[in-house]
Amino acid sequence: MLIPLKDAAHLLNQGHVVAVPTETVYGLAASIHQEKAIAEIFKIKGRPSNNPLIVHVSSFEEIKYFADTLPPFTDLLASHFWPGAMTLVLPVKKELISSSIRANLSTAAFRIPSHKDTLELLKLTGPLVMPSANTSGKPSSTQATHVETDFGKEFPVLQGVDSEKGLESTILIFNNKWEIIRLGAIASEEFTDILGYTPLFQKPQKGEQPQCPGQLYRHYAPKAKLQLITSFSEENTGFIVGFSNKNYPDNTKLFSLGDLNYPEIVCANLYKILRELDNNQIESAWVDMDFPREGILITLAERLEKAANK
Ligand code: TXA
Ligand code: MG
Repeated sequence: MLIPLKDAAHLLNQGHVVAVPTETVYGLAASIHQEKAIAEIFKIKGRPSNNPLIVHVSSFEEIKYFADTLPPFTDLLASHFWPGAMTLVLPVKKELISSSIRANLSTAAFRIPSHKDTLELLKLTGPLVMPSANTSGKPSSTQATHVETDFGKEFPVLQGVDSEKGLESTILIFNNKWEIIRLGAIASEEFTDILGYTPLFQKPQKGEQPQCPGQLYRHYAPKAKLQLITSFSEENTGFIVGFSNKNYPDNTKLFSLGDLNYPEIVCANLYKILRELDNNQIESAWVDMDFPREGILITLAERLEKAANK
């Protein structure tokens, strides 16, 4: 159920959970001061309690208040990428951020979203935790209707412009250098000019505790079985997740991510298309992985690999 800004702020301040559009994906919001609402988020998402939440605020001043220390270049990263699709994991003053949010770590993740309505809301409520508004493991929501599919028509959703980027934020942590622990809507090369180096993506190794606990879990997956391929022959009949500027064999039906020459649009369509497979009760689909691994297409490839990995 779409609700206006004032009602959303009121519900959140009263300790309820509200879905909120952001420029990356929709979030399920709760006030950082409302433990019952935070517990409710873990429950309705089916999220393991050892997977911490991102704290969203409307200003860098608030982040400085929570942070214990600021690693080198934090100010520059903040002024360049916030408000926006960057999340920084920072050491925090533990007494200020509850252990349920941090999953008992000594750090917390922070982001200042750029979505106009989200920022307005944050000014009325103060800091909000916001995991992506999907049941755990499923594709994230980029439209209010996706939130309804996962949580029901009665679930309160702040009305506003749908998510424009369609990929979650890029998460960085400082270990001697800044490293990417979750690929996202900002490509790694976009940090090069600010940092003087390109932060590497630390892919979690098998059997090793990942730096980003969420990377442990299966993600972004529709019910449909996805089979990743790089070339098509007449044998590949059925459904294809692919691109509008390419040709596929006859006897196939294309679920188009859009034209590969426009990577932002392709990424913005990803979760909508994965959800459409389920809406159409499709059991299996081929995925065209024949695209360059550059810029945010690297994130696209990683999301598709995760979605296919059951
Ligand atoms: O774009 C986004 O980041 C969206 C929108 C709603 O802001 N939010 C989002 O939240 O993607 P979620 O909960 O779906 O993913 C957050 C990720 C999880 O993988 C979690 O493990 C990681 O952030 N995370 C949170 N706190 C952390 C911490 N202190 N250290 C390492 N990773 C952390
Ligand atoms: Mg998520």
